[in-house]
Formats: sequence, C-alpha cells, structure tokens
Amino acid sequence: MGMELRRSLLVGVVLVVVVVSGEAQLRPNFYQFTCPKVESIVRQAVLKKVRQTFVTVPATLRLFFHDCFVEGCDASVLIASPRGDAEKDAPDNLSLAGDGFDTVIKAKQAVEARCPGVVSCADVLAIAARDVVVLSGGPSFTVELGRRDGLISQARRVAGHLPGPDFNLNILANLFRMNNLTTHDMIALSGAHTVGFSHCSRFAKRLYAFGPSSPVDPSFNLPYAQLLMRACPRDVGPTIAVNMDPFTPTVFDNVYYRNLLKGEGLFTSDQVLFSNLLSRPVVKKFAADQSSFFRAFAASMVKLGRVGVKTGHQGEIRKDCTAFN
Ligand code: HEM
Repeated sequence: MGMELRRSLLVGVVLVVVVVSGEAQLRPNFYQFTCPKVESIVRQAVLKKVRQTFVTVPATLRLFFHDCFVEGCDASVLIASPRGDAEKDAPDNLSLAGDGFDTVIKAKQAVEARCPGVVSCADVLAIAARDVVVLSGGPSFTVELGRRDGLISQARRVAGHLPGPDFNLNILANLFRMNNLTTHDMIALSGAHTVGFSHCSRFAKRLYAFGPSSPVDPSFNLPYAQLLMRACPRDVGPTIAVNMDPFTPTVFDNVYYRNLLKGEGLFTSDQVLFSNLLSRPVVKKFAADQSSFFRAFAASMVKLGRVGVKTGHQGEIRKDCTAFN
C-alpha cells in the first residue's frame, strides 16, 4: 500500500470516529458568522427586563437550572401546551416565576429580528442566565454555544429529576452526579440562593412541624427562625414568599454561605451543606473568600450548561421559544 493511500485511509478512519461519536462540542464563537451580535442583543433585552423588575434575575437563573436538569439544556421547559401537560406544568416547575420565561421570549424575539432561524432558545437562555448573574454583581464567564432546542417537553418526565428542599447531602449529590456535576459543583451552584424568593410552604415544616422533640428545626438559629415565623405564620396564604438571603437579597454575593455558618440557611438542602462534615470545608471556604466562590460558580455554570445538550442535527432551532416549529 502506498504511503499516500495509507495516509488517506488513516484520515478517513479518524473522520469516521469523530462523526460516529457525534460529540459535537459547544463553543463560545458558535454564531461568529451567522449571528455575531447575539450576545449583545440578548444582553440589551435582559438589561431592559431587569430594569423593569429585579425578579428577572432569580427567575431566569432558576429557569436555566430547571431546564438543564430535565431533558438537558434544550429549552424544553419553555414549551407551552394547551393541554397543560408540558414540562413547565409539572408540580416542581409551577413556582418558576413568569419573568424568567418572559426574559427569554423577549430576548429571542430581539435575536430573531436580526438573525432569523439561527440561534436556539436553549442558547438564549444560557446567555441570559449568565447576564442576570453579572447584572446582580456576580461573576462573568464565557458561555459556550451551539445547543439545539429539544423536541420533548412533558410534565410526566420531570418527577425525580429536580432537587427538593428537604433533600439530604447524599440525595443531592447523587442527583447532581447523574448530571455529570460533582458535589463541589452542587455546593457552588447552590450559591444561586443568594438571590430570589421562596414560598413559605417550602420550609414551613422546619418552623412548625420538624419533629416530636422540637417543632422548630434545631439547626436554625433561633432569631432567624422567629423572623421566618413572623413572615410566614401558620396557614399563611400560598402566594407569600420571603427573600432567601435576608441580608443582601438583590446582590449576587457569598452571603448565602456566611448565612449557613450562622444557621441561617432557609431549606434543609441549604443548611445541610454546612451541617454535613463532608461539604462543610467548601462552605467555609466560599464564606471566607468571595472570589473563590465566584470562580467556582462560573466554572460550574459552564458545566451545568453542557448537561444533555443536543448539537449538530439533533433537535431544532425553534422560531418561537414556547412552541415546537
Ligand atoms: C441544590 C438543590 C436545590 C434545591 C433543593 C433548590 C430548591 C429551591 C426551592 C424550593 C426554591 C423556592 C421556590 C419557590 O418557593 O418559589 C428555590 C428557588 C431558587 N433557586 Fe433553587 N434549589 C436548588 C439548586 C438551585 C440551583 C443549582 C440554582 C441555579 C444555579 C437555583 C436557583 C434558584 C433561584 C435563583 C431561586 C429563586 C427563584 C425566584 O426567586 O423566582 N437553585 N430553589
């Protein structure tokens, strides 16, 4: 066999391996030629929305997380079904705030006006999630792009994929591991609870019905528990919500971790990060050093953005983020 032939055979084999493995990678400059301004278009739309209401910040960040953990980061959570059986209609998603959806829908419309049919809703959501972190004082990072929008969005496929506020460290760690995220990623991403709200029902048990020996969860610091009881009396209405970080609720900072050190974590799933000796050192590090939290959060957001992504010819580029094409 001549040298040339052997070389071209080798190239052929390498190509086949790359194509068959289908591992098309996300990359930051994916829209370099097809929509070079996409990031500034999204940023403008997000900024406008944040100026109207701060709720945009936590709502968009949480929306990204809930999207990625169910079917991967593919905008499946945005689909609206006339029958009320889409992903967003699942019980775990009913408390997603409307302003997150509105942000992505508006940003996508602005993108469509400039580059029709090119940029996925999944990528718009990923960029918007980064932008709201930056706009509230958190770290910036480069968003990888090239996701395609998913073709499945079903309420019944949600259960078991999202963490609950009563989960312990083991269950939390397993759930994140299923998504290729480490316990360290989980601790860093939980820092998102430095912004936003929770409805009283999500932690009422820790205040009024913890256990037979004490109705109040003893891992709460008492003044904090009393503050929560005033904000959330027994049988309070289902729409009442409290700031998850009582001190700097509109700033993306490391106060979430400092609160955990004082017994001021709102959910069991927050406080457990400090009470469990395996995760405590990381909580202490983030509490003491905001820049180490920021670096870890940024890196974990990039990893979160890779969960279950569709690339290449998979999925589609939705025109309207709330409907399949
Ligand atoms: C570690 C496991 C987690 C659990 C158990 C959890 C649970 C919750 C719960 C119960 C709420 C309150 C919802 C409500 O009552 O309206 C909430 C809010 C929120 N979560 Fe998480 N979460 C977790 C991780 C994350 C992650 C990884 C992110 C993003 C990176 C995130 C971002 C948010 C945000 C921003 C809010 C506030 C939403 C708003 O104000 O609209 N959470 N979370």
